[in-house]
Amino acid sequence: MSMDTEELQNLIASRRTCYLFNPKETMPLLDDAVYRCLNAAIWAPNHKLTQPWRFWVLGAQSQSELAEVYAQLRADKRAQPQSEAHQSIYQAAIEKFHKFPRIVLVGQVLDEDEVRRKEDYAACACAIQNLQLIAWQQGIGVQWSTGPILQSDVTYRMLGESRDNVELIGALYMGYLKGDCNTQNAKRKPVEEVSRWLP
Ligand SMILES: Cc1cc2nc3c(=O)[nH]c(=O)nc-3n(C[C@H](O)[C@H](O)[C@H](O)COP(=O)(O)O)c2cc1C
Repeated sequence: MSMDTEELQNLIASRRTCYLFNPKETMPLLDDAVYRCLNAAIWAPNHKLTQPWRFWVLGAQSQSELAEVYAQLRADKRAQPQSEAHQSIYQAAIEKFHKFPRIVLVGQVLDEDEVRRKEDYAACACAIQNLQLIAWQQGIGVQWSTGPILQSDVTYRMLGESRDNVELIGALYMGYLKGDCNTQNAKRKPVEEVSRWLP
């Protein structure tokens, strides 16, 4: 497929963070589609070719395990332990998490050097944006979340990773788009407001 400049601009500007997906039972996001997204992610620019990104594509079992982490953190934050409210928040959160058609966790390999770490984070962000754009072009929505599951020791243990080596920087909730994504976010300050053109 070839794309002209205007189409590319439209793709970039029309992409939105998505919160509503078609049900995975009827419109599953298959491995091939996820692979294609990752195969765009890895072409992100990265200084010294450090290729600092790592991806964990969750399957049914790992999604269930992570659902428990998600639900526990959510319920603990919002209600007293052992309370009825805790139980119902926990249960609702489990269901919400199971509904995400696919989840990809993204981590950054941590370099010892502080400057390199900053560059590597930037590179990982570029990789995520590559993924989001190629996804969007195929009608696949993504929500890049930096929610509390990324900070949990349980998540690191589940992945068999040490915080000394890797930092989790994104949970990508993905699926085929349902309706309009959050159109409130379809706005940006104009270029004139955020740029100065020097002589
Ligand atoms: C580093 C980063 C972290 C983000 N974390 C979250 C998050 O935790 N939850 C969420 O709903 N959206 C998150 N987002 C998505 C932003 O909220 C979203 O990009 C912003 O509202 C603009 O909307 P748009 O992506 O539709 O243009 C994150 C985006 C970035 C770049």
